[in-house]
Amino acid sequence: MRIVAVGGPKGGVGKTTTAVTLAAVACRAGLSVLLVDSDRNRSATDWAESCGDRLGIDLADGQDTGDLARLRAAGGYDLAVVDLPGARAGGFETILTGNNGATPTADLLLAPTPAETMDLRPTLRVLRGEVAPLRLDYLCVFTRVPSYGLPRARQQAEVLDAAGVRIARTVIRTYTCYNLALDNGQTILDLPATGSAERAQQDYYALAREVFTAAGLHAKVNP
Ligand SMILES: Nc1ncnc2c1ncn2[C@@H]1O[C@H](COP(=O)(O)OP(=O)(O)O)[C@@H](O)[C@H]1O
Ligand SMILES: [Mg+2]
Repeated sequence: MRIVAVGGPKGGVGKTTTAVTLAAVACRAGLSVLLVDSDRNRSATDWAESCGDRLGIDLADGQDTGDLARLRAAGGYDLAVVDLPGARAGGFETILTGNNGATPTADLLLAPTPAETMDLRPTLRVLRGEVAPLRLDYLCVFTRVPSYGLPRARQQAEVLDAAGVRIARTVIRTYTCYNLALDNGQTILDLPATGSAERAQQDYYALAREVFTAAGLHAKVNP
């Protein structure tokens, strides 16, 4: 089982959206998927429950850091996606250092962030200062990027990549369909593949390919 944790120091950056959507992509790619909600706000749980069986993934409570630390031993799935709260405490620490204080619980920390400085700077500080020194791979990904910010975000990603920051080539663009899907108990994958919904789906399919490769998962993402 591979464990991908979605986290970072900031809230409202698209962590839960990324965790749930990636889990849904993985499920459609034929993987057995466990979604672990370690945020007290229970946003991933509420969303997954509103989707019902259609989502096709199992849900687990990850509030207890001990349970989170033992996640690998639980096994039984191809992939566990952990939705972390927007903070560096609790579950985030456990993902970094595991139950013995030294072995990361996850195989990959995926850190979504808008490309704006106020979000990016604290995220990079945590990734470079706290995650990189550990034996934990990370991947930063730009999320919630409005169309007017796309050229700058792509350029920034190139600059960061050249500076040795592990950053996804995929940029997740801002579309209203994310909230439309959420309000209807769906993910964007359930929306008809036309217009902006199709572009949003393409973004997450592309990100999933990068994440699965980085996490050592073999799955064919086939939109
Ligand atoms: N790519 C996107 N385009 C538009 N809205 C988005 C996008 N990603 C997330 N959102 C919205 O932004 C808000 C915060 O997202 P969420 O995934 O809950 O962030 P976090 O888990 O980091 O707090 C939600 O209303 C969500 O629907
Ligand atoms: Mg969240």
